[in-house]
Amino acid sequence: MLKVVEYLNPSITEKSTFNLADESVSGQDMAKELAQELEEHYLPKAMETLRRLAPHKEILVDYCKFALQSTPPNYEYPIHLDGPGKVLSGVIYMAPRKSTGTFLHMNSKLSAFDEVTWEENRAFFFSRTPNDSWHSYKGDGKNIRWVLIFNLMTNQLNKHELLDLGYFRFQYRRIADRIGKLFGIKSRYA
Ligand SMILES: [Fe+2]
Repeated sequence: MLKVVEYLNPSITEKSTFNLADESVSGQDMAKELAQELEEHYLPKAMETLRRLAPHKEILVDYCKFALQSTPPNYEYPIHLDGPGKVLSGVIYMAPRKSTGTFLHMNSKLSAFDEVTWEENRAFFFSRTPNDSWHSYKGDGKNIRWVLIFNLMTNQLNKHELLDLGYFRFQYRRIADRIGKLFGIKSRYA
């Protein structure tokens, strides 16, 4: 089952929220500078969150990744599991003031059993599992949905899968994936 950690109003200020959501703010330098500032301030908090959710995964973290992401009002991202590159998945709801959050599902087909509802500056973090951390998101049909993605990442994909699945299920999954590839079956991971 998906374990959820949520922070209400982390100390991302109104000002930085505005700047982040302003389409006129662009340029590599600005983005780099901002990413460095975010890393400095929030990496310790993300590591602390990971230690609470999945302490055995702390050894996997190789780097962190920030991305400001906007999706059109009618955009819909299907139900999926995050891939083994993500050790901790985080999303911070930026703008507008009201929108739709993240939907949690029991499997790839069932409709959502819960929603981490949208609130400006709310941060939602989880550590992916290979079988039951299904989620999706979509726009509210009215506004562009702005979020800040904040992930702790690993390059050690096999080690991550091995830790999640255990030796025998890991081997079984590898064989099943290879056979799946031969038949053109799409990966379950996004
Ligand atoms: Fe995801």
